[in-house]
Amino acid sequence: MKAFLFDLDGVLVSTEHNHFLAWQRCAHSLGIAFTEKENELLKGVSRVDSLKKILVLGAKTISTEEFEDLLISKNDFYLESIQDLNQSNLLPGVLDLLKSAKTKGIHLGVGSSSKNANFILDKLQIRSYFEVVIDGNGVKDPKPHPEVFLNGARALGLDPSVCMVFEDAASGIAAAKAGGFTAVGVGNPHIANMADIYLNDLTEFRVEQYA
Ligand code: BG6
Ligand code: MG
Repeated sequence: MKAFLFDLDGVLVSTEHNHFLAWQRCAHSLGIAFTEKENELLKGVSRVDSLKKILVLGAKTISTEEFEDLLISKNDFYLESIQDLNQSNLLPGVLDLLKSAKTKGIHLGVGSSSKNANFILDKLQIRSYFEVVIDGNGVKDPKPHPEVFLNGARALGLDPSVCMVFEDAASGIAAAKAGGFTAVGVGNPHIANMADIYLNDLTEFRVEQYA
């Protein structure tokens, strides 16, 4: 493999739970039941598509204005909840994997649906490991469409067949497979069967096996 492309939320950092809490608050404000089970449908999904999915779950329609207001309050609540985020919030094995891959000359990138990705990478102090960061601001078609990862591979000048994608979400594994990448599922048993390789966490990954 010549490159590793990482999803952010739920793969590099434990922010997926913060997204869940923020969406749950939003769903409850609309009178819609929302648990971890329903949240699986939202993992890796863009902000706009997530709210659309919540409305489908509750069979609700709201005005464009209310829709926009909910997006803003969800993001405000989410950002508030991660204001103290720092390197200690990296998920197990992340830093060792990044360092080891870099030493072996593997190109590193991030492919995230989040519009907050660069802000979070800076807080985590890992921005400098990545040659390319494609975030939710840089794609037309969000996951499960492969665009985010295809843009990452293209920016590195590499074919998807020599790139591995690390993902915790069904939408992200689908995106990776659709793009022709090797899909590594991480830390989410729900996606174990969809992925080419499955890891409980990144401490289980051996860079030398794929370098
Ligand atoms: C993804 C998360 O990385 O980004 C989703 O898995 C989130 O839960 C999506 O909804 C969009 O993030 P943001 O930060 O732009 O609202
Ligand atoms: Mg994720």
